[in-house]
Amino acid sequence: MTLTEPVPPRRDRLYNPPDSVEPAGNSYDGSCQMRECIYGLDREVPLLDGSRVRYVNLDNAASTPPLVQVVDALAEMAPYYSSVHRGTGYKSRLCTEAYDIAHATVGEFVGADPGTSSVIFVKNATEAINKLAHRLAAVDDRIIVTTRLEHHSNDLPWRDHFRTIHVRATADGRFDEEDFDRILRENAGRIALVAVTGASNVTGYIQPVHRLAAKTHEAGARILVDAAQLAPHRKIDMRPDGDPEHLDFIALAGHKMYAPYGTGALVGPSAFFLQGGPDYSGGGTVHVVTPDEVHWGKTPDRDEAGSPNVMGAIAMAVAARTLMNKGMDQVAEHERVLTEYTLGRLAAMPGVTVYGEKDPSRAAEKVGVIPFNLAAADHALVAAVTGYEGGIGVRNGCFCAHPYVVHLLHLNSEESGRWRSQFLAGDKSGMPGMVRMSFGCYSSQEDVDRLLSMLEKIEKGEYFGDYVMEKVSGSYLPRGYSDDFSSILGGRM
Ligand SMILES: Cc1ncc(COP(=O)(O)O)c(C=O)c1O
Repeated sequence: MTLTEPVPPRRDRLYNPPDSVEPAGNSYDGSCQMRECIYGLDREVPLLDGSRVRYVNLDNAASTPPLVQVVDALAEMAPYYSSVHRGTGYKSRLCTEAYDIAHATVGEFVGADPGTSSVIFVKNATEAINKLAHRLAAVDDRIIVTTRLEHHSNDLPWRDHFRTIHVRATADGRFDEEDFDRILRENAGRIALVAVTGASNVTGYIQPVHRLAAKTHEAGARILVDAAQLAPHRKIDMRPDGDPEHLDFIALAGHKMYAPYGTGALVGPSAFFLQGGPDYSGGGTVHVVTPDEVHWGKTPDRDEAGSPNVMGAIAMAVAARTLMNKGMDQVAEHERVLTEYTLGRLAAMPGVTVYGEKDPSRAAEKVGVIPFNLAAADHALVAAVTGYEGGIGVRNGCFCAHPYVVHLLHLNSEESGRWRSQFLAGDKSGMPGMVRMSFGCYSSQEDVDRLLSMLEKIEKGEYFGDYVMEKVSGSYLPRGYSDDFSSILGGRM
């Protein structure tokens, strides 16, 4: 395609983020050079006592804030926004090219072979995995092997369509590779797919995905890595198709990798997606339709039914490019140092129980996700006090991984049955769970220190709010307080 009009100003920045991103280096100096790339880190929020404080986000495993590069790119792209594909106008041609480049960039981010792989944009990791489950169920009725460490999004879609076997977790919550080996041995040739999380959203444990891939292929199956949690923390390399350690499918979420604009991706072999029809049909999915016939289109188009989220795809690609330019090794090293520091501090704090890896010297074996409980207060209360009195965002509960959290808490079946009945009766008070802090590439020691000093206060009972448990949500709310968001939201919607 030849563009006959001049390229819009600074368009290059869409794909080549500005100099504020340091080139990847071989050594790490301990400082966080990513803070300047994150939008809104200086934002102050109100506390329960009426004062204001800089917000600290330690809930990055749920969602990350946008990169400056992403917000800039979208602002620069907005005046040119137009629907993609089949449009002949300049803006449509430009957006079509941007959308095509976005596919290629996300593929490059995970080391996919552009000749044999397709990057399919979806809305989040959950949709990516559901799409694969639907597509696979149409062509294969063999077993799915998944694990006890999974987020519900990499568990329930498999249970919906297939006979599913779960690999056990060890007592401290690690992937039990001996059990995995046994399951593969006993079911070799009868397994369609191994669906495993790249990194747990509860404990942060990283799975040896390439070793598992080799074993999976040996057993005649393919492997999906749910990389929602891995992608923002570690380099992903699917490796060439012929490599025994090749990863067949990858699921990604843009909102967990600094591009919260409603896009995720499923990456996998084009040949697989060309089998059969798509899970959603309609506009954009076909070559030709007659009153009696449908000829499906090429991939990824046939799996991206309807008008796509072009801006979301651009956001995800800009984030991927920014992370690649920064260097995922540098991101990983920054988070390792912070995780090591935090685990060390937590080990010295009375009343704190950390789940999963506790040893600071083994911080490299996990991404920066640390689940814990305090002896003095329920996890829901800890999260409420840190939010309302500390201006710090953490998460509490079971993190959409109920079986795994129940396992980590060592609840027996009677205990878990009791809370399940209570929960189903509409009372979520006193539910088992944990508090989770989770780091981004920009998190700092100062952020961690702010949280730890709040935890020390809570452990000593030194908070002042009068918190009331709301049974329906299972959350503690400060009595007599209500949020006033009008200065931010007022009149806009
Ligand atoms: C490991 C893992 N997989 C899947 C998901 C689901 O991601 P999404 O919310 O993008 O659908 C999450 C979300 O927390 C996750 O942590």
